[in-house]
Amino acid sequence: MDGKTVKAKIRDRKARVGVIGMGYVGLPLAVEFAKAGFRVDGIDLDERKVKNINAGRSYIGDVTNKEIRGEIDAGRLAGTTDFEILREIDCVVICVPTPLRKTRDPDISYIVSALEEVAQRLHKGMLIVLESTTYPGTTEEIMLPRLTETGLKAGKDFFLAFSPERVDPGNRAWHTRNTPKVVGGITPACGQVAALLYSQAVDTVVPVSCSRAAEMIKLLENTFRSVNIALVNEIALICDRLGLEVWEIIEAAATKPFGFMPFYPGPGLGGHCIPIDPHYLSWKLRTLDYQARFIELAAEINSYMPHHVLSKVVDALNHQRKSVSGSRVLIMGVAYKRDTSDTRESPALDVLKLLRERGARVDYHDPFVPALVATSSGNGAPMRSVPLTAARVRGYDCAVIVTDHGGIDYQMVVDNSRVVVDTRNATRGLRRGRNKVMKL
Ligand SMILES: NC(=O)c1ccc[n+]([C@@H]2O[C@H](COP(=O)([O-])OP(=O)(O)OC[C@H]3O[C@@H](n4cnc5c(N)ncnc54)[C@H](O)[C@@H]3O)[C@@H](O)[C@H]2O)c1
Repeated sequence: MDGKTVKAKIRDRKARVGVIGMGYVGLPLAVEFAKAGFRVDGIDLDERKVKNINAGRSYIGDVTNKEIRGEIDAGRLAGTTDFEILREIDCVVICVPTPLRKTRDPDISYIVSALEEVAQRLHKGMLIVLESTTYPGTTEEIMLPRLTETGLKAGKDFFLAFSPERVDPGNRAWHTRNTPKVVGGITPACGQVAALLYSQAVDTVVPVSCSRAAEMIKLLENTFRSVNIALVNEIALICDRLGLEVWEIIEAAATKPFGFMPFYPGPGLGGHCIPIDPHYLSWKLRTLDYQARFIELAAEINSYMPHHVLSKVVDALNHQRKSVSGSRVLIMGVAYKRDTSDTRESPALDVLKLLRERGARVDYHDPFVPALVATSSGNGAPMRSVPLTAARVRGYDCAVIVTDHGGIDYQMVVDNSRVVVDTRNATRGLRRGRNKVMKL
């Protein structure tokens, strides 16, 4: 099958789509392709995810059960753990994790493992797109050589491209369909086939010159956030020294109608992207004998923020003539982001650890995270979210707002707390108890 045939199959929705890795990125993407009329197979190593998909149950906040069920019932979506299905797939999109090793070097082993499964079943006319965030050069230096080993030629026998995922979990305005999608191919023909596929399911496709550019674009986007968050975190530390409230400074600066974009400080970075992705770029640059100074400085400042929160808690307790050791502290919000349940890399976990190491007795409340599976309550069992009642809140020496989930009665929390450390400005506009609140 040549480029023309695969393009015709895509236009006619006769191309079969496979998505490898059905997580935060893969599941919404698979559903979007299915909604566009393609037959989609979602492949994952995790049997529970596959079972949930086939039972029409969503495990991702941005996708509803109804959406999955609708596509399953229409025969357009199915989950599987069997990579043999790839033999029947025309277009495969890889959305596997790209974490860091303990040494903070990229761990692309998930990509390599998914690639191996594809390479063993590569066939003429197949389109392969990598979506996992990674360093510039991965598609060309890691994917291409393995696929070429089969004897097939990129741009002629198969098509290879990179298209970064831009999903913003919990964002109601911007989702898979209406967020513009950058696509860069290994060859121009590869880019064209990949762009054609995405244009069937996504409103705007942004073709770029090559896969390496597409990889770099994602890292620019995330480095931009990491560096700006670090800048504003440093401004928060500076304001603290100057006895100024950083939130007032930012809000007023943001009234400038041009040349200023507000970023907000917080307890540290969280999630699967911003704390991790810039390290992919700085690692690659180290191999090219270049030190990415902004990235490293931003990481240093951002990773200091949980320690700054700890020092705020120490101050808050000190005002009550109490030590951290033995004090009861309530952490409010353990997800890394407002109104989501994702605790990956959450700074709340760092704050929790730092407090415990100093002997505090810590509980947490998070309406989105009923149990913290990776964090033990001390006896080996997972920590569980405590209910947020006035009587409960009165039992703590300090409440720390780490994630500003909506739907929480912050006035009630302040009314019943001895002292509140607010790292997100969640208590802005409260009528009573401002003297009990210590802001970041
Ligand atoms: N979550 C986000 O907001 C977001 C946003 C933009 C980009 N990304 C990037 O997208 C990629 C995926 O992230 P995610 O958040 O969806 O991860 P995730 O952990 O939610 O999902 C990844 C899935 O891949 C599966 N998997 C792992 N190895 C596999 C293999 N060899 N074969 C089949 N399945 C395999 C896992 O079981 C898991 O279900 C990462 O590179 C991430 O950096 C994530």
